[in-house]
Amino acid sequence: MKAVLCKAYGPPESLVIDDIPELQCGPGQARIAVEAVGINFPDCLMIEGKYQFKPDFPFSPGGELSGTVIEVGEGVGNVAVGDRICGGGGHGGLAEQIVLPAQGLRPIPDGMDMTTAAAWSTTYGTSYHALKQRGQLQPGETLLVLGAGGGVGLAAVELGHAMGARVIAAASSEAKLEAAREAGADECIDYSDGELKEKVKALTGGQGADVIYDPVGGPLFDQCMRSINWNGRVLIVGFVGGDIPKVPTNLILLKGCQVVGVFYGSFAAMEPEVTARNWEELRDLFTAGKIKPKVSRVYPFGEAAAALRCLADRQAIGKVVVQVVEER
Ligand SMILES: NC(=O)c1ccc[n+]([C@@H]2O[C@H](COP(=O)([O-])OP(=O)(O)OC[C@H]3O[C@@H](n4cnc5c(N)ncnc54)[C@H](OP(=O)(O)O)[C@@H]3O)[C@@H](O)[C@H]2O)c1
Repeated sequence: MKAVLCKAYGPPESLVIDDIPELQCGPGQARIAVEAVGINFPDCLMIEGKYQFKPDFPFSPGGELSGTVIEVGEGVGNVAVGDRICGGGGHGGLAEQIVLPAQGLRPIPDGMDMTTAAAWSTTYGTSYHALKQRGQLQPGETLLVLGAGGGVGLAAVELGHAMGARVIAAASSEAKLEAAREAGADECIDYSDGELKEKVKALTGGQGADVIYDPVGGPLFDQCMRSINWNGRVLIVGFVGGDIPKVPTNLILLKGCQVVGVFYGSFAAMEPEVTARNWEELRDLFTAGKIKPKVSRVYPFGEAAAALRCLADRQAIGKVVVQVVEER
């Protein structure tokens, strides 16, 4: 079968499409015919050897996908051959088939197409967990989202709005802010000039945001810590903007705030029942029309490298998807 392979660390252009042997489906596993793959920033880091998890060579990137179950291993009860599912396993998605633990697979909600289904497992799973369990976001609170036009960021804007918060979207371009407005942002901040804190203060009567969702880090993080309200929660989601920032503990004291880590992969592994409830609620939000994952670009399998390049160049709005086979 065909797979997009990383044979040595390098940029997206170093990926190759090659044949690999058929995968074996063991106990507790399911073999899936992959239909589409949602690209995430960690895919770009992984192929350059900059991600915390380093698979052996050769490996296929692609941590979230949609597809159809074509074989189940011994002891699998939650999915059956023919089921349309979505999920992921960190890597291995950019291939015609993948074998995954069956337990983490979820049915695709009624009315969701396979392309969209490939694009919501990681983003909505992460952002809902972040806002609900980690941020304890309440209706009427102010939520500031950085990187608000990107994958997890745009999901956080939409979910924050659906949860009844007043959402301030912050991003580096008008096109990304326009996508955030469409997803339910009440206010927008363009931080391309490097300024965030004074703009947040101006929109919050000087108080700051109650919850800050930060997948960017880098130089903006210090301004996040100065833009948080009394009793606020700063959610540490990622560090796409550069170095891992240091937390000024004096500001935690002065603002009586919390700095809270978000790690969706570990949450899903350690708290499967809470994760399952989150997914029931996400399905209901989708079915009720309250969330609508945005896929802005779809690439054919042969152009998977261009899809990763789009994220690496900070060009993606919402989600970018690689279509492994044409939508049926
Ligand atoms: N903690 C978890 O469980 C978890 C789960 C999933 C993802 N993540 C993390 O979340 C982060 C975002 O992932 P994603 O897939 O949503 O990425 P994405 O779609 O590429 O969005 C990232 C956003 O970050 C901003 N950004 C700032 N500096 C950037 C730079 N130098 N290069 C690229 N983008 C930059 C961009 O918005 P502007 O141009 O508007 O600044 C971009 O829209 C990553 O660090 C990822 O590892 C964490």
